Amino acid sequence: MIIEILKETEIPTIAELEKASFSKPWSEHSIKSSFESVSCKFFTAKENGRIVGYIGLSVAADEGYILNVAVFPEQRGKGIGKALVKFLLEKYNNELSFLTLEVRPSNTAAVRLYNSFGFEKAGERKNYYSHPTENALLLTKYFNSVKENC
Ligand SMILES: CC(C)(COP(=O)(O)OP(=O)(O)OC[C@H]1O[C@@H](n2cnc3c(N)ncnc32)[C@H](O)[C@@H]1OP(=O)(O)O)[C@@H](O)C(=O)NCCC(=O)NCCS
Repeated sequence: MIIEILKETEIPTIAELEKASFSKPWSEHSIKSSFESVSCKFFTAKENGRIVGYIGLSVAADEGYILNVAVFPEQRGKGIGKALVKFLLEKYNNELSFLTLEVRPSNTAAVRLYNSFGFEKAGERKNYYSHPTENALLLTKYFNSVKENC
């Protein structure tokens, strides 16, 4: 498996992956708008030249926000999600103070994935999600000891 930057021609495949993964998927148009934003970066995991997963990041100053991570259903449970998160952590370790994200508490696979990399609960957003309505769990991973030393 390789991980590389998303190409514009691959956006329709990411829209398919979104549809296969979320009850309120990002449209091709939304993905394209974010793709064109200088603050957003998207990476794909590929096997035999085919996209099997993706991860998106938005950066503001030294803060990173994971927009989404998804793996095609038939490819799940093979370490691809883990490889994508690990890739981001290693790539941005020296650039960012922390990485943060929102996740449904009921999304056991994602919560476990993030916890396994040391993301910790930083708060909750009430009724953040719809279809179905659910709070969002805010998870954050700090890259240095600033938080612990304060
Ligand atoms: C979350 C998601 C990206 C995980 O990708 P994946 O490639 O299947 O995950 P991996 O095989 O790399 O597993 C990594 C870890 O995630 C957790 N995990 C993955 N699938 C799991 C499941 N079905 N149940 C419980 N934990 C699970 C485990 O901790 C696992 O580590 P382990 O194998 O050492 O126990 C994938 O399930 C997905 O695309 N889900 C739909 C989209 C989504 O919900 N994205 C998250 C939005 S915040």
